[in-house]
Amino acid sequence: KQVSHFDLNVTESLGAPDCHERVIRYVNGVYPAPAITVNTGDRLRVTIRNRLESESISIHFHGVKQTGTPWSDGTSHISQNAIPPGKDMTLEFHVRDQAGTFLYHAHNAMQELSIFGALIVQDQKEDRKHFKYDGERTLVLSDYWHNSSIAQEQGLLGTPFKWIGDPQSILTNGITQFANCSTSGKLSPKAPNGGYAVTTVEKGKTYRFRIINAATLGFFRFDIPGHKMTVIEADGTLVEPRAIDHLEINAGQRYSVLITASSPSDKDYWMSTQAMWRPKSAPNGWSILRYSNSSKESTAPAHGIPPTSLPPKGPEISGWMDRHLVPLHKVRIPAPTGPTMQLNFSQINTGPVGANTVRWKIGRQSYVLPNQAMLLQHYNGTIKDMDPASKPIYVHKNRVVDILLQARVGTLNGVCEQHPFHLHGHSFWDLGGGNGTWNPTMRPDTKHAVIRDTLTVYPSPSAYFETPQPEGTGCGWRRLRFVADNPGAWMLHCHIVAHLVMGMATTFLVAPNDIPPLPANFPDWMTGGIH
Ligand code: C2O
Ligand code: CU
Repeated sequence: KQVSHFDLNVTESLGAPDCHERVIRYVNGVYPAPAITVNTGDRLRVTIRNRLESESISIHFHGVKQTGTPWSDGTSHISQNAIPPGKDMTLEFHVRDQAGTFLYHAHNAMQELSIFGALIVQDQKEDRKHFKYDGERTLVLSDYWHNSSIAQEQGLLGTPFKWIGDPQSILTNGITQFANCSTSGKLSPKAPNGGYAVTTVEKGKTYRFRIINAATLGFFRFDIPGHKMTVIEADGTLVEPRAIDHLEINAGQRYSVLITASSPSDKDYWMSTQAMWRPKSAPNGWSILRYSNSSKESTAPAHGIPPTSLPPKGPEISGWMDRHLVPLHKVRIPAPTGPTMQLNFSQINTGPVGANTVRWKIGRQSYVLPNQAMLLQHYNGTIKDMDPASKPIYVHKNRVVDILLQARVGTLNGVCEQHPFHLHGHSFWDLGGGNGTWNPTMRPDTKHAVIRDTLTVYPSPSAYFETPQPEGTGCGWRRLRFVADNPGAWMLHCHIVAHLVMGMATTFLVAPNDIPPLPANFPDWMTGGIH
């Protein structure tokens, strides 16, 4: 078996990804973190070196199931304690039966998406009967704030509550142009310095664009004018090729689309990224599709003036993208082996009357991350005494779990929002959803049941920002199903990082008796020597 070794050296210094200067996080000297490419079946050995000034970190490989290696999930407070500055940690895991487009990112409180990069898993035996392409390109979309994640977290958890607001910029491959870029000097040879990302294509060729949403908040609509996109992959699952005129992608989701460089003119095309399901103040992202006559991708950013008009968004339609997808390979979907687990969630005010302390409650509680990682508490036997607000839901081995995510209007402002839910340690069947309140006569949608790891609970368009609704109103629901075949401690959470920080998470302790022992090389400084 092939072992691929990666060293991720995490540092911080000034950068100006959108031409506004602030301290940003680099991995091996670049921002965003470098793309990691491996093959299905590879064993990865990833050494993370925290060289930040003062913040602890962990790195999560989003969408990688970590079968048999629950201690390598990189989730602070759950699978491990965060790595303090100056320390190193090596994660080892297989990418066994998975292929496609993934990402890796920090997973410690609000800092989550300040470190992010693409993870591409190539399948040498990929079924290419249904599609062909000559080359591939990766576009990592992200949102970007000018204030620090620490300030954001203080506002979210403080009294009175202060929302983070919309981002200042939407980046493509780590850059965009927010301010006048000519006034900011070049900081370091490798520092991003603003401008527009350029994706080059050769006329007549077909490309697989791997599009990754690494945003902390944004649900994006992505457009390439003058070119049709054909979706072939969603979160590591091949889907029947479907032509679409625009892509909708939520935070934590990934799609591969084929595009053919068949435009009659060689002009630049402005690809746009627009935030959906947000008030109108959110900024737009832009990058350039450029025809060239060399097969090599140039990475130099371009400066320029993007068009003033965006593709018309039209009305926002719940689940438009999901209903375009049908899995390429049909797999039998097992029946649930227990009652549907309904998780209601809403925003609550936990402060004294008149003050405003806001959390998200999901299921029994607003989730509070334990200080000592849950998995380590499993090993040292203290998990039974955990604070109720941090306790996991116990799931027995191979249970087929049906989860019904039901969004409700909370106490804050009467609005319904969208939520991207992500499950660790497993993929699930996305069994569809609807507006309002679920009831048992609503059957699962098995036709569009794509196996993925991040889905959207859509708001009812009628209860969206413009029209506040009474507390308790059903906002929308979605159903997922997974086979609990991976013993370990796993999170299910909203991938809007601010919501996660406000408690929109729950954890599953799957088959505790079957969790394999910690490997001998697990760092002692973290465990205090439990093995
Ligand atoms: Cu992409 Cu729990 O994370
Ligand atoms: Cu959310």
